[in-house]
Amino acid sequence: MENDINWSSLPFGYVKTDYNVRTYYRNGKWGSLEISSSEHVDLHIAATSLHYGQESFEGLKAFMGKDGKIRLFRWEENAKRMQNSAKGILMAEVPTDLFKEAIYKVINLNKRFVPPYGSGASLYVRPLLIGSGPQVGVKPANEYLFMVFVSPVGPYFKEGFKPVNMLLTREFDRAAPLGTGKYKVGGNYAASLTSMEKAHEGGFANVLYLDSKEKKYIDECGPANFFGIKNNTYITPKSDSILPSITNMSLITLAEELGLKTERRPVAETELESFEEVGACGTAAVISPIGKIVDETGKEYFYGNQPGKISTKLYNKLLAIQTGDEADKFGWVDFVE
Ligand code: PLP
Ligand code: COI
Repeated sequence: MENDINWSSLPFGYVKTDYNVRTYYRNGKWGSLEISSSEHVDLHIAATSLHYGQESFEGLKAFMGKDGKIRLFRWEENAKRMQNSAKGILMAEVPTDLFKEAIYKVINLNKRFVPPYGSGASLYVRPLLIGSGPQVGVKPANEYLFMVFVSPVGPYFKEGFKPVNMLLTREFDRAAPLGTGKYKVGGNYAASLTSMEKAHEGGFANVLYLDSKEKKYIDECGPANFFGIKNNTYITPKSDSILPSITNMSLITLAEELGLKTERRPVAETELESFEEVGACGTAAVISPIGKIVDETGKEYFYGNQPGKISTKLYNKLLAIQTGDEADKFGWVDFVE
């Protein structure tokens, strides 16, 4: 069955598809995957995910190539990161084989929602792990539910590959250095909502967070990592409270390919004025060049109204690998069959 989605004007949002997949962890083991066409889950009122935030999610994208083959980008890294998040908040880990089976199955079941090559859209895959067993005291659940749904998506920032403006905040923190910022758990995103709303109200695409301990170093950029470029060097913050981005890790490799030096180290706010290009990177954001950073006192760092040269090269190279236009020399792409 065809569908009438206008692929090239798709926002980053939820679109109902045909199926999702689910499985429970009970009595110490994972069950087999169920296919569901319901968009709902039936959950115990005392489930730990509802009360104490035992929840982790992932996000990855599937792309249609010119050759009609569906490609997944670095899914094993998402499996690993979800295992790490599960460890971080004491949930049952989803084994890599089960993660793979689930994402391949849900993509295959929803093939008609994979946006066509050249549309600029992709199929966003959202694995989700939640504590489904009841507790009233603050304790980990005995039962977990792992689900994966998909949604065709366009660019995360409505600007697409155009510079966005960011609000640098000192009034809000997203995560603490010894807290959960390095895990992809729902609580971090709940903690980011008020600051994001403030940013949106001020006409900014998102928030740039400083480290919550010293308020001196750049942490990350809403749901994306931060990078800056100067003197032919790709520089990205090292911090214990940011999510290790798979896109950022890939861009470091690609920057080296392009002949840049790369550095992962603390990036002081004062360094912002010396960057030639800055951007946000992530699965949803891909590369979003940043045109301007403004703090709450009105202090401004301006980078330009057009994407920088190196950001553009990195963006094109990443997308070319993801869609199969460029050879997958790093072994990052798997075909979904
Ligand atoms: N930082 C945060 C807080 C995120 O939510 C994401 C998105 O997953 C990223 C960074 C980028 O990570 P990745 O490139 O693995 O999608
Ligand atoms: C992603 O880039 O996959 C994200 O998870 C970002 C976001 C929509 C939370």
